[in-house]
Amino acid sequence: MKAQFGSKIGLIAATVGSAVGLGNIWRFPAEVQANGGAAFLIVYIACVFLLGIPVMLGEFALGRYGQTDAVGVYRKLSPGTPWWMTGLIGIVASYVILSFYTVVAGWTFEYLFQSITGELYETIPGDAPGSTAQFADRMAQYVSSTWKPLLYTVVVIAINLGVLLKGVQKGIERLSNLLMPLLFCLLAIFVVVALQLPGAVEGLRFFLTPDFSKITPKVVIDALGQSFFSLSLGMGVLITYASYFPRDTRLTKTAVTVSVLDLLVAVMVGLIIFPAVMSFGLQGESFEGATLVFVTLPEVFARMAGTQIWSILFFLLLFVAALTSTISIGEVSVAYFSDHLKMTRKKACLAVMLPLLVFSPICSLSNGVLSDFRIFGMTIFSCLDAFSTNILLPLGGLLMSIYLGWVAPKGFMKTQLTNDGQHPTRSAGLVSFILKWIAPVLILIIFVAGLL
Ligand code: TRP
Repeated sequence: MKAQFGSKIGLIAATVGSAVGLGNIWRFPAEVQANGGAAFLIVYIACVFLLGIPVMLGEFALGRYGQTDAVGVYRKLSPGTPWWMTGLIGIVASYVILSFYTVVAGWTFEYLFQSITGELYETIPGDAPGSTAQFADRMAQYVSSTWKPLLYTVVVIAINLGVLLKGVQKGIERLSNLLMPLLFCLLAIFVVVALQLPGAVEGLRFFLTPDFSKITPKVVIDALGQSFFSLSLGMGVLITYASYFPRDTRLTKTAVTVSVLDLLVAVMVGLIIFPAVMSFGLQGESFEGATLVFVTLPEVFARMAGTQIWSILFFLLLFVAALTSTISIGEVSVAYFSDHLKMTRKKACLAVMLPLLVFSPICSLSNGVLSDFRIFGMTIFSCLDAFSTNILLPLGGLLMSIYLGWVAPKGFMKTQLTNDGQHPTRSAGLVSFILKWIAPVLILIIFVAGLL
């Protein structure tokens, strides 16, 4: 029997769990800051609705129709053609992303642990207590050391393996049902706290008052890339999850719900980060890379009453967000191994997760002892990040929209979106138009811009 999600809520929780991740909490505010505040937010919202939701619907349609993995669905719909390679690109991209995402998820776990023990806030000799230097040094020391990050990466891999082994309903769905409400509660608490900080209004102004002159081509390209990453598009993750949707799932409603919740999380994060950072006068600091969450925010917590509690809750939030995303990324390969290569679920999970015990440590060590080993001047970690996010991911999305717009059997999207005509919806025509004419062109632009 093909695995399925057991309830509508569970299906939404799992898909939102995939979408809401480090992309919302860490990448989004950094992009907002780098791209002029509210101007970015507006373009981002436009990208989510114009492009994100149609492409998500494309993945949903393929997955629910195929009831199989990301490669199998192309084989089923267009047998004898090379389109299955589109699915394979997604699976390769997802595996590459998994190998470094587990490392970062490991950092969040270590920071959670250090918040609980209080070690994160102990002074480092030579650095002023609570200063940027203190947290920057701690981060640099931690990331480049050998054993600790490895240990936490292995813990993350083990948790992933445990959840994936339990299967779609008892593993992924149950965990998401538990963690997603927790995530929203934590976010709500932080929004309330952040908005009460002195000077919070300044932060709100930056995040919410648009200056349209700041919208440049770069802002648009970055917003497009961010929307794809945040909505988990282009890698077959959502094709895989949709293969577990029951036949009567209303795809449009589901895609809109998931995308709006993902957007809501990003906006809530903005309502937390900008007031907090500006309230403590830290807006001048770079949010680049990992700095925002691992350096700037601990600095904010250090200046607040109840430092340790806020720190624990925040890193718990971050860990929860990262975990449900890694699980969705792992599931793409597990589905491929079990559906396509006909392995049992147990064997498939082991075949996917065990090699990570080699790949993830290599990524982790490339920030430390292996940092001299460079590919195109980048560490292994950054090279894999750039290669998958800037090349494989848009390539997968581009090929999928070309496929759906131009190659798939006529009327495929319409049949799927209306559930075989049972629920006629006017948006079906619009979605098909976007997938045919707009998505390929816009994705091609991000793709080329990403390469330059
Ligand atoms: N969307 C997740 C985030 O925001 C990351 C993620 C999960 C992802 N699955 C994906 C990104 C598939 C691209 C494709 O962190």
